[in-house]
Amino acid sequence: MSTTHDNNPAAKLELDGKTYELPIIEGTEGERAIDISRLRPDSGYITLDEGYGNTGSCKSSITFIDGEKGILRYRGIPIDELAEKSTFVEAAFLLIYGHLPNRTELRNWSDSLAEHQMVHENMRFHFEGFPVTAHPMAILSSMINASSCYYPGLMTGQNPTRFDVQASRLISQVRTIAAFSYRKSRGLPTIYPKKAYKYTANFLHMMFSMPYEDYEMDPAAVRALDLVFMLHADHEQNCSTATVRTVASSKANLFASAAAGVCALWGPLHGGANQAVLEMLQAIHDEGDDGSKFIQAAKNKTRRLMGFGHRVYKNYDPRAKIIKKTCDDLLEKLSISDPLLDIAKRLEEAAIHDEYFVERKLYPNVDFYSGIIMRAVGIPLEMFTVIFAIGRMPGWIANYKEIMESPDSRICRPRQIYTGKEINSYIPLDQRA
Ligand code: SDX
Repeated sequence: MSTTHDNNPAAKLELDGKTYELPIIEGTEGERAIDISRLRPDSGYITLDEGYGNTGSCKSSITFIDGEKGILRYRGIPIDELAEKSTFVEAAFLLIYGHLPNRTELRNWSDSLAEHQMVHENMRFHFEGFPVTAHPMAILSSMINASSCYYPGLMTGQNPTRFDVQASRLISQVRTIAAFSYRKSRGLPTIYPKKAYKYTANFLHMMFSMPYEDYEMDPAAVRALDLVFMLHADHEQNCSTATVRTVASSKANLFASAAAGVCALWGPLHGGANQAVLEMLQAIHDEGDDGSKFIQAAKNKTRRLMGFGHRVYKNYDPRAKIIKKTCDDLLEKLSISDPLLDIAKRLEEAAIHDEYFVERKLYPNVDFYSGIIMRAVGIPLEMFTVIFAIGRMPGWIANYKEIMESPDSRICRPRQIYTGKEINSYIPLDQRA
């Protein structure tokens, strides 16, 4: 490694007989990057990195992951400490505003979430338009954008007060929209939120209460779901968060950016994995397989062991460890014995000792056990990824705020290497084959 003219560390690149010095920057935890922002104007070359496995898109102070050591921290606080001592609402404030709220801030934050939890009454007409078979992620992404149509004043221009209202409205309403879409899919009457309930309890109330009787809240179930939300709250530049930042980089509004994040999260390789894990476990159970046939299929690459592997974690996902323990405790507390949990444990045990998975550093990720908790709480399978979206909303909002406030941010516009046809001419219709 050399140094630049101003004595900062630099990488040296030899290209076509010329030498280029590329500045090296170092993050808080010692991770280092080669800054290539001058590469093309100086050398004419670009870099290529399908899936951006080796490419940093930004500098961020929100979340830190060490994939080799299995570390995850929100604003520097380890996830296991937050899981033990905090709540989803408090962690959401921490991610968005960068510090743990004091008593007044926490009360104002909770009051703001309560104040903005109702969607505009005319949104009901949008719900009526969806077929009962509509996937809740389709409803969620469209209703987030639809919801912004009722606050035109909120969507134009940015200022701190306007952002605060947008943020609390989005975090609060994503839960209301999710519950309403579930009730619609079951032909059930809409249940409105209650001020008496806190965030996660209110979600369960809107999901499962009836006009004639309130859902019986089991504190263990409420705590377990609140933890699932918190553990999903942010995760550096994952596919959906990178999508939110890309949309935000064009100066689109927060609701449009979040709606795009929902769409990216939907994919089975990302947030859709929790639903795919349960479908995999159910298929293994229905085939009477003890998991060994499925493991072999995964090794033959005819199946994927959903809930396993991660682009960053090359060690156990710290969230999976916390969720697995929460899962055990909840099922014991609710006296539920779930055969799918037994299969999951057998699969994990087999895979973490199998050379194929060990050499590829494939461990359980956050999605491997989260579905078992959601199933125990009564969340239907098609709502699993919606739960992930509710949890991830604070992370998306925090990243939106960060890119909007960054003086260095530019519109995201990657380059490409063209591999199509060389120049050719237009062929009139009567001369085509
Ligand atoms: C989330 O980015 C984030 O932070 C995401 C997330 C978040 O909080 O936002 O953590 C949430 O999305 C977790 C991941 C949920 N997805 C799944 O559980 C789906 C199953 N996992 C995989 O499809 C895969 O592991 C990914 C998508 C998660 C990561 O894919 P990569 O990094 O592109 O790895 P790869 O596909 O290049 O695989 C490398 C090797 C390949 O084998 P070889 O070609 O080297 O022989 O590992 C194999 C893959 O075939 N492999 C798997 C596997 N995952 C990778 N083989 C079997 N089962 C798997 N699950």
